[in-house]
Amino acid sequence: MRVVCLISGGGTNLQALIDWQTKGLLGDAAIVSVISNVASAYGLERAKKASIPTAVLSHRKYSDRLLFDQALRSLIDGYDPDLVVLAGFMRILTAEFVTHYHRRLINIHPSLLPKYKGLDTHRRALDAGDTVAGATVHWVTEALDAGDIIQQIEVPIVADDSEESLKARVLEAEHTLYPSVIRDLSLGVISC
Ligand code: GRF
Repeated sequence: MRVVCLISGGGTNLQALIDWQTKGLLGDAAIVSVISNVASAYGLERAKKASIPTAVLSHRKYSDRLLFDQALRSLIDGYDPDLVVLAGFMRILTAEFVTHYHRRLINIHPSLLPKYKGLDTHRRALDAGDTVAGATVHWVTEALDAGDIIQQIEVPIVADDSEESLKARVLEAEHTLYPSVIRDLSLGVISC
């Protein structure tokens, strides 16, 4: 299963995928490329260290979202992917793009969806007095963070948790959830 990862930033989830791949734990999945819309994204360094091909496509060079997404799509399709993995890719994608990758495009979101779509998920969970937080891997559809849920992981919220401490605990859980879902998709344990 050929996997293209899209990133915009630090790429700790990408690092988890690389680590599982290096250890032979990623099933039949192989990361064939990492693409960033931000040239300075540290995740690009992580990919280079693992000898994974990288590419940068800056959205700033495009006058509108549609044109950027069309360019991104042709860049991605040059790698002939079976699965496109959003790993901290901070762009809203157009309907045309999402439809093209129907059941081939996944995202990880730092909440137990359908709770807390969008940003500031940890702050909102703390403000609501929740006792459990978590992360969700889901298929990407046109509606933000609303595609079918593939798998979730729960994380406790503990007394005196701050936004930062909760974020760190959820992120650590993401680093197991995302690689295991991609492994299971590659092995057909989870179907598309
Ligand atoms: C993670 O919190 C993920 O849930 C969200 O973006 C963040 C990416 O972090 N979609 P990283 O770049 O993988 O460290």
